[in-house]
Amino acid sequence: MENCDIFMSNELESCSITGVSTPEQALGIISQYTDTAVVKLGGNGSIAKRDNNIVKVGVPKGVNVLDTTGARDLYGAGFIYGYLKGWSMEKTLKFASASGSLAVTFYGGMDESYSLDKVMEYYRMYDSTNTFCDKSPLMK
Ligand SMILES: Nc1ncnc2c1ncn2[C@@H]1O[C@H](COP(=O)(O)OP(=O)(O)OP(=O)(O)O)[C@@H](O)[C@H]1O
Ligand SMILES: [Mg+2]
Repeated sequence: MENCDIFMSNELESCSITGVSTPEQALGIISQYTDTAVVKLGGNGSIAKRDNNIVKVGVPKGVNVLDTTGARDLYGAGFIYGYLKGWSMEKTLKFASASGSLAVTFYGGMDESYSLDKVMEYYRMYDSTNTFCDKSPLMK
């Protein structure tokens, strides 16, 4: 794990590999071994830690959940996109979550409705109420 720039896991995976019971605790442990730690929280969005900053982002409001197949891959694609653009962790997490949330609106892992424009449209559905940022870490 020390060789990873980014380590991304879901809630169950993060708790089982660290032996703790909450994703926040798991994030704290994983972040000791990797530059950027991300824990995905399904319909509750995701949480990440980098440089001692913790960011938690929900999902865009009003997403019509049809099939969650592919959410993992398209969340990851959105995250890598923002990461490589050098965006802030908050913006990257929102974009990743917008991409993952779009994935649950169609059956299967890919669909013609998936596009950069559409992810941006979901990204713009965020408002200040479904983002939580903390400059001081919740836990060490
Ligand atoms: N019910 C949902 N509503 C909206 N967005 C969702 C929902 N479920 C998943 N997502 C989106 O997909 C992302 C990844 O989902 P999840 O946390 O389940 O990861 P995963 O378990 O690795 O993926 P998967 O379940 O596809 O294997 C979430 O962070 C969110 O952006
Ligand atoms: Mg899942």
